[in-house]
Amino acid sequence: MENIVLIGMSGVGKTVVGKYISEKTSMKLIDTDDIIECTSGKSISYIFKNYGESYFRNLETKIIISLSHETNAIISTGGGAVICRKNMSSLSMNGIVFLLKANLDTMLRNINASKENRPLLENTLNIKNEIESINRKRRSLYASNADYEITVDNKSIEEVGDEIIYIYNQIKSI
Ligand code: S3P
Repeated sequence: MENIVLIGMSGVGKTVVGKYISEKTSMKLIDTDDIIECTSGKSISYIFKNYGESYFRNLETKIIISLSHETNAIISTGGGAVICRKNMSSLSMNGIVFLLKANLDTMLRNINASKENRPLLENTLNIKNEIESINRKRRSLYASNADYEITVDNKSIEEVGDEIIYIYNQIKSI
């Protein structure tokens, strides 16, 4: 069966929604940031700080391409995965791409509540402006690469996850 691919900005809930879907469906969860950290033995922040963003992007692409044989998995991507065309063509080859979308306040709330390090947002005085600026640059990439767009504002993790599972099951039964 095809994979469920989750894309979207930091703070939209890709990781938690991926975990929920995985628990509910028994599909395997693959988090590309986690694989990068496990295979390199370094945190994402460390990689950004010591090797730079383009080194990270190369690792990210290598990992994503290495996942092209996966089936029946939930693949949760880092927010910048859409930047590289190769990433998205590889992910969509055998996956249905769900874009999680949130307004600025939701993203900011989730980012502030999480313990994850986000190097792109670390050295900025105004996180809200930075998120807005990154989102503006990526908005059209997110939209053009998504098979389905799911708005997460004011919804629980369960509601978002169930919406995705419902769509996925509908497609499967066609
Ligand atoms: C990034 C988002 C992060 C992580 C890296 C770069 C981005 O993942 O991949 O810090 O470019 O937006 P999350 O979307 O899980 O925060």
